[in-house]
Amino acid sequence: MVKEYLRVFKSAPLCGEVKLSGAKNAVLVTMASLLLAVGRSRLHNVPASFDVFNMIELLKWLGVLVVFDSNAGVLDIDTSCITSLEAPLDIVKKMRASILVMGPLLARYGSVRITQPGGDSIGSRPIDFHLKAFARMGAEISFFDDAIEAKALTLSSSRFILDYPSVGATENILMAAVLAPGVTVIENAAFEPEVFELVAVLRKMGALIELAIPATILVRGVKQLEPVEYTVMPDRLEAGTLLLAVAATGGEVEMPNAPVQAMSLFIEKLRDMGHLVTTGESGLGLSFKAHLSPRAISFKTMPYPGYPTDLQSPTMAVLSVAEGTSVITETVFDNRMLHVPALQKMGADIEVRGATALIKGVAQLRGGAVEATDIRAAAALAIAGLMAEGETIVSGVPHLLRGYAGLDAKLRALGAPVSFVSM
Ligand code: UD1
Repeated sequence: MVKEYLRVFKSAPLCGEVKLSGAKNAVLVTMASLLLAVGRSRLHNVPASFDVFNMIELLKWLGVLVVFDSNAGVLDIDTSCITSLEAPLDIVKKMRASILVMGPLLARYGSVRITQPGGDSIGSRPIDFHLKAFARMGAEISFFDDAIEAKALTLSSSRFILDYPSVGATENILMAAVLAPGVTVIENAAFEPEVFELVAVLRKMGALIELAIPATILVRGVKQLEPVEYTVMPDRLEAGTLLLAVAATGGEVEMPNAPVQAMSLFIEKLRDMGHLVTTGESGLGLSFKAHLSPRAISFKTMPYPGYPTDLQSPTMAVLSVAEGTSVITETVFDNRMLHVPALQKMGADIEVRGATALIKGVAQLRGGAVEATDIRAAAALAIAGLMAEGETIVSGVPHLLRGYAGLDAKLRALGAPVSFVSM
């Protein structure tokens, strides 16, 4: 069946246990990083989300042999025979994370050409930090009408201080640097858990990487990296999305593999709303019990360990019925309030002033036809639908499928009246 719309009805409290999938933002960069070695690597706990299939398509285009057992979550990647160093338009436009093959291809093969990724609905999303860094490492960057090319006989190590701790730029520079002779230093680096995951994978492949205070990554270049077998971390953003869905319905959930150490501020904010969150000693796993009259909270999205921008819109959905007024400021992306009109259409009282939204809790949302414009907005509208009277039809479903593996099935297993429909 073509999954065109998500149909959601007001839900009874969601209850049960959920096992999280592997982290989307970790697996995409890990897949790209395997281009740095020659041979066969294996990844476990790989989510069957559309972006993973998009990255598979890109790797295949480059000549990589890929076998994905999506039921088992096992992905075999053989990079022995790279035949192209170009990321084509139809893949790049589907998935912005395609830019993450730039660093590895440049480092390993001295050349990469990629269609201009451009902006998307959440903002302009330039890649100037990435390109500036490659140029500083000795790459020649050429701009064409529709593409960017980087070429370098060898990359040299350098010292960078990023204007902003960009996740993608940190990852691309790191991957470009692991084979460059000498010591590369990245200051003001992103320290997201998914960046640490990349560091762990690269170290397992033989890279020499150290982390230093404040937010600095030091890379000592090695001659070659080896293929690897690695298990992808559970998805903290999927965990957050599901917890907010359970909170929205006043339910209870066990998440035995929730990466709680990577979720500290988010968990703190759930507690500020009045919800009960109990975390395991081992750093993995949590129990959640919703407060039936959650309180308003305020936060600014920030680079990790600040409040994750990816959970901003799902949190706003939940706060639209909280007691009091919440204030949310989006500082990471310049246009990440596009879910607001849809929430307003459902009866939410939200006023946007620049990058800040004031959310006055209302007694009840109402269902309707709403459109999602990005991955997390789609999740936010699904959550709003679980609280709204009547039926909610969310369009823009491909966004949801790009970022989450079986979110609908996980919600249904907890009791949510959610299904994909075509009309
Ligand atoms: C990654 C995540 C995304 C998350 C975001 C922030 C993946 C696949 N995606 O996106 O889910 O929301 O981190 O946590 O991991 N910027 C520049 N110039 C650059 C690069 C970035 O100005 O060269 C700006 C961006 O426009 C944005 C900010 O830096 O305003 C943060 O972006 P960045 O951290 O790079 O996000 P992504 O890596 O694209």
